Amino acid sequence: MAESERGKNEPPGTPRRKVVLAMVAGACALGAGTILPVVVFVAAPLDATAGKARWVKTVRFDQLKDGEPKRISVVDDRRDAWTMERGVELGSVWLVRKAGTVDAFSAVCPHLGCSVNAVSDGGGGFACPCHTSAFALDGLRRGGPAPRDLDRLATRIDDGVVAIEFKRFRIGIPERVIT
Ligand code: FES
Repeated sequence: MAESERGKNEPPGTPRRKVVLAMVAGACALGAGTILPVVVFVAAPLDATAGKARWVKTVRFDQLKDGEPKRISVVDDRRDAWTMERGVELGSVWLVRKAGTVDAFSAVCPHLGCSVNAVSDGGGGFACPCHTSAFALDGLRRGGPAPRDLDRLATRIDDGVVAIEFKRFRIGIPERVIT
């Protein structure tokens, strides 16, 4: 009997058929092993925390003077789902030292997003140059069209350096909503 005919007539479960089935199963497993990591890589964002709050170190605590606002540029790596840029300016915040603690406020006016300035007259605080909203040194709204107080950011002091929990907020609404 020819070799090919003998293969056709073999009953299921013969050694030759088992070898062929094992080869097919092995090829499938190899294919899955090759494809799966690619799918996982494509589907997984570079940083699962992209778009959320992050802790960023700013200046040394002893560089701040009590009651004197200091504007800080927040520089950190910018990540989105697929890319990362190093050393990008993310925004600005005002730091205000109060004895042993530090308050931090977003420098973005909650009205329409202009940048607020520190003012020394009228008891100090902050003023927006665009539509004259005014805020006290503790961030409370004093007047103008801003719909809420300045957006306060959490702070902590790590080894003498002030760290802030940097976030951005939606403007133009009374509620504080993180974007
Ligand atoms: Fe600040 Fe309008 S943007 S008051």
